[in-house]
Amino acid sequence: MTSEITINNDRFTLYLSEEQIQNKVKELAARINNDYRGKVPIFIGILNGSFIFFADLIREIAVDCEVDFLKLSSYGDAKISSGQVRLLKDLNCQVTGRDIIVVEDIVDSGISIDFMKKLVMKEKPASFKVVTLLLKKSVVKIDFPLDYVGFEIPPEFVIGYGLDYAQKVRNLKSIYRLAPKK
Ligand code: IMP
Ligand code: MG
Repeated sequence: MTSEITINNDRFTLYLSEEQIQNKVKELAARINNDYRGKVPIFIGILNGSFIFFADLIREIAVDCEVDFLKLSSYGDAKISSGQVRLLKDLNCQVTGRDIIVVEDIVDSGISIDFMKKLVMKEKPASFKVVTLLLKKSVVKIDFPLDYVGFEIPPEFVIGYGLDYAQKVRNLKSIYRLAPKK
């Protein structure tokens, strides 16, 4: 496992190892399995960032479940949120009366998850919960709880394990954070 990588002159250092991430995924899945016993939730992944976390999480889910995806864009190719969310691909599933679990890679400002919640709530689901691998707690501004949070992290730019930098490096198995300039 590389402990440091450089992209476009920006240096990133290892932050969460593959093992730490995989242990956390199992822990989150165990909690969800326990809470949804006897139910058939729909897991909704927010593309693109959540696809790797989603794939790992869903394979640890032991209850009957369905999956769907929604595509949002807020970041463009920058390192800070544009503050505007665009819906690039809508849901295909029927949400009404169903138990919905939204799967996010990271909640930063909370704009995306807030947008997503409003969209889903319009369809009157039986329940709505969020699982996110990462949370920038000092940044987020939302008025509802995030039910399953993997790691609370400082307000730093992170990449890997689905998270991109200008669309690249999503395929890294670990998570790296932007290092201060030398
Ligand atoms: P929010 O709307 O500001 O909460 O940001 C949500 C989305 O922005 C996440 O789902 C990610 O796709 C992206 N994002 C937020 N923080 C980071 C980061 O540190 N690195 C890469 N992508 C990020
Ligand atoms: Mg995302």
